[in-house]
Amino acid sequence: MAGQRELSAARERLAAAHAVAVLTGAGISAESGIPTFRGAGGLWRNFRPEELATPEAFARDPRTVWEWYLWRRGLIDAAEPNAGHRALVTLEQQRPRFTLITQNVDGLHDRAGSRRILKVHGDIWQSRCTACAYQRKDRALAYPTLPPPCPECGEPLRPGVVWFGEALPRIVWAEAERAVSQADVLLVVGTSAQVYPAAGLIEMARFVMEVNVATTPFSPSVAISLQGPSGEILPALV
Ligand code: APR
Repeated sequence: MAGQRELSAARERLAAAHAVAVLTGAGISAESGIPTFRGAGGLWRNFRPEELATPEAFARDPRTVWEWYLWRRGLIDAAEPNAGHRALVTLEQQRPRFTLITQNVDGLHDRAGSRRILKVHGDIWQSRCTACAYQRKDRALAYPTLPPPCPECGEPLRPGVVWFGEALPRIVWAEAERAVSQADVLLVVGTSAQVYPAAGLIEMARFVMEVNVATTPFSPSVAISLQGPSGEILPALV
């Protein structure tokens, strides 16, 4: 658990910061019961990402890919935001210049009440057409047929998430880079910092504080490393 010294140094730095950026990963939703990808019990221990989270996988077997995302939607639907998500809402309310950048697609930041969210890996609660511009917010946990057909053109719909090998949403990514470049503090929460370009944001930041239960490649170089569950550390920070 992070020491009092690190916590008070982190609190002071946050309080003095004019602009704050936050980067979250799957770890912030772990205490809501949502499996992470690489930790113990992580999704990539039980499934092969190349068989589920790539355009090739979807082209080869859209039904199985949809079944996996619908299973994940079911887990997320049954989950609640936790104290970590809520602490970031408080932090956003406390400071005028705040940007939350998330790699998560689960929508728990939205449900907690965060407003300024940049979803660099998309949104599991969005379905979009593989052929035309059709897209919709979608709470469906099941469909009559898989893959669901686009109501406009009949082609398969896909989950509105970014798969391995795909480009991140251009405008969202540009906003994320700008927010980090302008931030006095980047708070990095619950990410193994192994997936680029998202992890590259950490390298762009002026001053990094990391909240994680384990160490990451960036732990030796961040200004303040707060070891512990985000559901406990973040409320203590704000
Ligand atoms: N509090 C803080 N950190 C936690 C907690 C917790 N309660 N539980 C786990 N963690 C940390 C783990 O130590 C790990 O560093 O969260 C991190 C989760 O890492 P990953 O599972 O790799 O998730 P993430 O970093 O978000 O993955 C990035 O990879 O699979 C793709 O697109 C997917 O957005 C995802 C991206």
